[in-house]
Amino acid sequence: MHNIETPNSAFQSPILLMAKRAAAMRAAGRDIVDLTLGEPDFNAPAHVIEAAHQALGSRLSYAPSNGIEPLRRAIRMRAWEDRGLDFGDDQIAVGCGAKQIIFNAFQATLTPADEVIVPAPYWASYPAMIKMCGAQPIILPTTASQGFRLTAEHLTAGLRRAVSPKWVVLNAPGNPSGALYSKRDLHALADVLRQYPKVMVLSDDIYAEIRFTQEPYLTLASVAPDLAERILIVDGVSKAYAMTGWRVGWGCGSKSLISAITTVQSQNCTQTSTLSQRAAVAALEGPRDFLAERNAIYRQRRDAALHVLRSSNKLQVPCPEGAFYLLAQLKTSIDDQALALDLLEAGIATVPGSAFGLPGHLRLSFATDEATLVEGCKRLVSALEAYA
Ligand SMILES: Cc1ncc(COP(=O)(O)O)c(C=O)c1O
Repeated sequence: MHNIETPNSAFQSPILLMAKRAAAMRAAGRDIVDLTLGEPDFNAPAHVIEAAHQALGSRLSYAPSNGIEPLRRAIRMRAWEDRGLDFGDDQIAVGCGAKQIIFNAFQATLTPADEVIVPAPYWASYPAMIKMCGAQPIILPTTASQGFRLTAEHLTAGLRRAVSPKWVVLNAPGNPSGALYSKRDLHALADVLRQYPKVMVLSDDIYAEIRFTQEPYLTLASVAPDLAERILIVDGVSKAYAMTGWRVGWGCGSKSLISAITTVQSQNCTQTSTLSQRAAVAALEGPRDFLAERNAIYRQRRDAALHVLRSSNKLQVPCPEGAFYLLAQLKTSIDDQALALDLLEAGIATVPGSAFGLPGHLRLSFATDEATLVEGCKRLVSALEAYA
């Protein structure tokens, strides 16, 4: 068969590649605990499924590229009630997941001369998308001792180094770090951004509802309203509402940016599924007590996994404040990518930290039941005994 090499061949998601490997081994009968994917193991809430059933009975026609009006209204309501942010109807764009909104935003704004500041560790798709749009990511490493947060000093250094910085990416709780920013952190970042009036901020808040702290969630636009015009908040139903496959995400930002994002949307897949959008309205408008219940479960799993992982002197594992990933630092000399492949043979699938710009680490998702998670962590700890 003829193998087609495309310019995009290098952009395959390393997370999906590991997940695929694990799935292939399982299909071949191997016993593999898969901790690769950031996919909640819960189902969508019952009232969401009910709303989808009802929507099936009506005509599901093409919808506007910026989303159906009731969904835009529900997104505005949540932004107001949860974050105190007042967006107009023309400041909302709905897409096929947060991922497509981010891609659309980059596609709409980046030229080959542009750069995007991405703190590491990062969600692997940011640099891939930036490069696919012909622009350059500028990676700013953060450290465990700073809680994997971008500091004002780091941001200043990155912006000074850049020639044509277009965007700064902020993601909290972070994938893979789970790190959150305090009000003070955000004020300090805002002070730096005020000196660079042309730079936009992509605030990826997709894990905002999955937190293990009591404090309310803070996003840059609420802390620094004077910057709101150049902040794009990205969110969606995938993580909090366990609706990954429904593919509904959105962006809230300035009218001009939202209009540009909608144009890109209209020329690729027109809109995300009308059925999914109707279900997303039910998610945003319906009862939300289950969020706290699920967070308590995630927290219990996190603690159970930490208990096992911290019994190994080959690992150092910080306690994440949000999202559902553990980032384990390797105290062995082995390369993380080689190790992740070895670990597959030992029956445990993880993602090497290199995929997130943080070599020497492994990411483990705890969006899986506790027994499976603990078994996976035990396999990891026991397999590491073989390494110096
Ligand atoms: C940081 C981050 N942003 C965005 C997304 C994409 O979410 P969605 O399913 O809404 O496209 C993910 C999914 O893993 C993520 O981890």
